[in-house]
Amino acid sequence: MKKWLNKLPKVELHLHLEGSLEPEFMFELAMRNKVMIPFKSVQQIRQAYQFDNLQDFLDIYYQGAEVLIEEQDFYDLTWAYLLKCKEQNVLHVEPFFDAQTHTDRGIKFATVINGISHALQDGETKLGISSVLILCFLRHLSEQQAFITLAQAIPFLDKIKAVGLDSAEKGNPPEKFSRVFAKARELGLLTVAHAGEEGPAPFITTVLDDLLVSRIDHGVNAMQDEALMKRLIKTQMPLTVCPLSNTKLKVFAELSEHTILKMLNRGVCVTVNSDDPAYFGGYITENFVALHEALNLTKKQAKQLVENSINASFIDDQAKQALLAMLKAYQ
Ligand code: ADE
Ligand code: ZN
Repeated sequence: MKKWLNKLPKVELHLHLEGSLEPEFMFELAMRNKVMIPFKSVQQIRQAYQFDNLQDFLDIYYQGAEVLIEEQDFYDLTWAYLLKCKEQNVLHVEPFFDAQTHTDRGIKFATVINGISHALQDGETKLGISSVLILCFLRHLSEQQAFITLAQAIPFLDKIKAVGLDSAEKGNPPEKFSRVFAKARELGLLTVAHAGEEGPAPFITTVLDDLLVSRIDHGVNAMQDEALMKRLIKTQMPLTVCPLSNTKLKVFAELSEHTILKMLNRGVCVTVNSDDPAYFGGYITENFVALHEALNLTKKQAKQLVENSINASFIDDQAKQALLAMLKAYQ
């Protein structure tokens, strides 16, 4: 089954590029860029990856991202992720990047996006992996800071398909970003948002009604609200669920308690994703394998989850049909 899941044609819709920074590469970049990190070895970095909640993780994740300085660093980070995708037969990706984590340290928006975009273009031509890029706003920062970031993105709109909302959910309800999301939509961008990861079900309703999202990132707390569940099923609103992330950040105590297959069986458009694979113990294949081991995920369910991802992706209909045909042919 592991081999079958690895070869299964896949699509990833919830991946933070900064969360794919492997400890080995973090260490190498710290030396390359002469950035101090509070770790003496790669092993020490890995040992620090024990989290009780989202904030615990974010503290270490933002610190880790400080080793990224040059355009080449952003290229290398993205390229390493794409090589992993190639290994795991991921054919299309829609990664997030957290511009503010870098611009707040004096790195130019152009440095970040040019490095990432160049690697994504090479991914398309050299590896055959298609992609669209999503700019996330950090919700612990202000509305004004999000507006500044959106303004910085304007010269690069040909490289960005959508905006998203991430970082600490508790205490940062989505309505703070209604106006900046409206502006992003005016600029022709699609919208997605993290909601219902640690935050309550009403945050999911708000991102649907105020931020007019095309997908919900995580959304597992929708299970708290039956009317919302019915709405998600009726509208086939996609949820980008991240199983290993949810156990690492203690959203669920054990993977065997995860509700993704309950949602799938009820007809919710759930998808499988890795979120921050370098921090949570695995890329997309490892997430599928873990679901098989903890919840007896079947081949049929795995194919349905990928079909959901294809349908939820931001590619045109012709590209969707091509991916759906490849998926169907896979036995
Ligand atoms: N940024 C990176 N990973 C995240 C997550 N799981 N939730 C919110 N913000 C994030
Ligand atoms: Zn995420």
